[in-house]
Amino acid sequence: MTRGWAGGISLTAWSCGTGPPSGAAYAFGIDFPEQLTNTNPPNQWFRVRGSAGRMGTLNPETGNWKYNNMAEPKENLQMEKIVSLCKRRGFVFPSSEIYGGINGFWDYGPLGAELKRNVKDLWWNAMIRQREDTAGLEATIIMSPAIWKASGHVDTFADMMRECLLTKKRVRADQVEPQSGTVYRWTGAESKTSGWKSTKNFAVLLRKGENPESARKKAREFYAQGSIDLATDEWTQLVLNGESTATATDSIDFHPESCAELSEARPFKLMFKTYVGPVESEDSVAYLRPETAQAIFVQFKNVLETSRQKVPFGIGQIGKAFRNEVTPRNYTFRSREFEQMEMEFFIQPDEVIEAIYGSVATVPATGHPGEPQPNWGWQAWHQYWVEERVRFYEGIGLARTTLGFHRQTPEELAHYARACTDILYQFPFSKKDADGNVAGDELEGIAARSDFDLSQHQRFSGKPMGVFDEALRTAWGKLPKEKQDDLWKRYYENRKKYLTKMAKPDETPEQIQKQATEDANGLAKGQYIPHVIEPSAGVDRLILALLANAYTEVAKTDAKGRSETNVVMKFHPRVAPIKVGVMPLLKNKPELVQKALAVRDLLRPWMNVYYDETGSIGRRYARQDEAGTPFCVTIDFDSLGEKPELLDTVTLRYRDDGRQERLKISELRDWLLAKIR
Ligand code: GAP
Repeated sequence: MTRGWAGGISLTAWSCGTGPPSGAAYAFGIDFPEQLTNTNPPNQWFRVRGSAGRMGTLNPETGNWKYNNMAEPKENLQMEKIVSLCKRRGFVFPSSEIYGGINGFWDYGPLGAELKRNVKDLWWNAMIRQREDTAGLEATIIMSPAIWKASGHVDTFADMMRECLLTKKRVRADQVEPQSGTVYRWTGAESKTSGWKSTKNFAVLLRKGENPESARKKAREFYAQGSIDLATDEWTQLVLNGESTATATDSIDFHPESCAELSEARPFKLMFKTYVGPVESEDSVAYLRPETAQAIFVQFKNVLETSRQKVPFGIGQIGKAFRNEVTPRNYTFRSREFEQMEMEFFIQPDEVIEAIYGSVATVPATGHPGEPQPNWGWQAWHQYWVEERVRFYEGIGLARTTLGFHRQTPEELAHYARACTDILYQFPFSKKDADGNVAGDELEGIAARSDFDLSQHQRFSGKPMGVFDEALRTAWGKLPKEKQDDLWKRYYENRKKYLTKMAKPDETPEQIQKQATEDANGLAKGQYIPHVIEPSAGVDRLILALLANAYTEVAKTDAKGRSETNVVMKFHPRVAPIKVGVMPLLKNKPELVQKALAVRDLLRPWMNVYYDETGSIGRRYARQDEAGTPFCVTIDFDSLGEKPELLDTVTLRYRDDGRQERLKISELRDWLLAKIR
């Protein structure tokens, strides 16, 4: 059920967007993704969601989907409050709200836009500008559809879904809530009037206390659906055949709303499709990118040649991504349009490291491995990036204690990945395990993607994606034959494994061996295809984490003894949308106003300043507390020299504890800059 937004937003509403007031969460103008058949090629792979407890795997041979159940909590007061504040203060609005909203799309209001900009700037600074070994990219959203064929998205980027046999509503296979009760089954139905008959099986779960007749009514509706022969109302008289009952405990085979049986799980494609040019035909199909990463792979050579970088180095991009998620949920957490901040960090394969440096460095399995070293293999780089990203989160106010980690198991890993560590944040809606511990939900995944992506684009585009490394060529020539053979063999086996797995239908084992041999022979010439470590973060999820992390309620008692609860958004000053509030103590004293405006103008070129002269000073502080402004400065009579020693000073107030101190106006800018950078 979707309830309205007025006076605080209902829980179901933050899952579903706005909408008509009765159970119409599915009616938001977006068609469900197109269905795949189960006849995909045997080497197909399906993307596995990256966060703990939210995953499943498809056995490509049998088509069977094995999933871990993940039900969403019914109530989450904390989220309701956050959503309500976001709407009220202009952090986040439902997209297209005046037209009833559109499920899975969100707009950022004035404060949200600032917050988002700060987060993206901080990422860009940390990942691109402050490093010697990275470069930036800004690619188009719509790219050649051939890219998505090569990456595997066209054929296999899908979610497993199940359909209610009665209402046709769809749910993600890993999100069906377990239900208990009595299962009523039938083997068919028939009409004694017209002689119409069905021999389909159907089942309905009857919850405790419900009337079995309601189950039978649903069964009659189900059987009547497929019949064009039944006259009006004839369906109500259908005779149900072969009724049997059984007890079900925590069954995930029934739709949570209708309680009717669900279909088998089937994959549904997640990419948004469009057409380029005036003709809508198969030849003009294009896709909105479902990740920013692929543009980086296809521009790898251009960036390498123009940036004077050398492997190991990374290319980063921030930008929009689109996925026609089956069930957008948890406010902005799973949206259909969102932004990613992705780095593809290209490294030498371990065989190349070994050839040049004799061995691959080992680093402790936990903790930061320190400054990058030339002899690092993929494991050290993976560990490094996990820890670098955690440092980033700590640097913007997400303490390590609020984060979780999930190292994907071999079953969860995408087939090309060697490892993937998800950094989780403990959102208010994150699940508790049996012991009450919260692992969290995925903020970012750091994947070791091997040389899969560049290899795929090399094969599909026919353009070489490998690099030449003089150090490798020189080192190779000096290696003992035994070592050369060993490294050659290992590289050959890895290439053969990849080529076999991704073979096109017309490729023979001989062709694969020939290609793997050529690839391994490249080592002696100093050639190889770089491997990749990919830290991939979602901007919107991070914003949601920052909002949840900042949200604090402070109980206060006013002068008349009345208690009230104020919200203080305790953002780290680096991400806070407004850095400082500037206020004259009184707005009807021109000298105070003039000086306050001068302070505002002094700070404005350097940071986002909010000037406020209306209402009591306490009310103005409270407004800034809600916006998450870490500092306020007040220009009072002492600033004008009432106490001569305080001339040209201001009162500086700290948001988090209300502490106040005096600061010289001449020192204000540098003091604030030191806090917000
Ligand atoms: N290139 C790898 C990649 O796209 P992913 O795990 O599918 O990997 C990376 O996505 C990050 O993008 C996630 O960790 C998450 O933060 C964000 N993300 C993915 N799907 C999202 C969605 N539907 N809504 C919001 N953020 C999403």
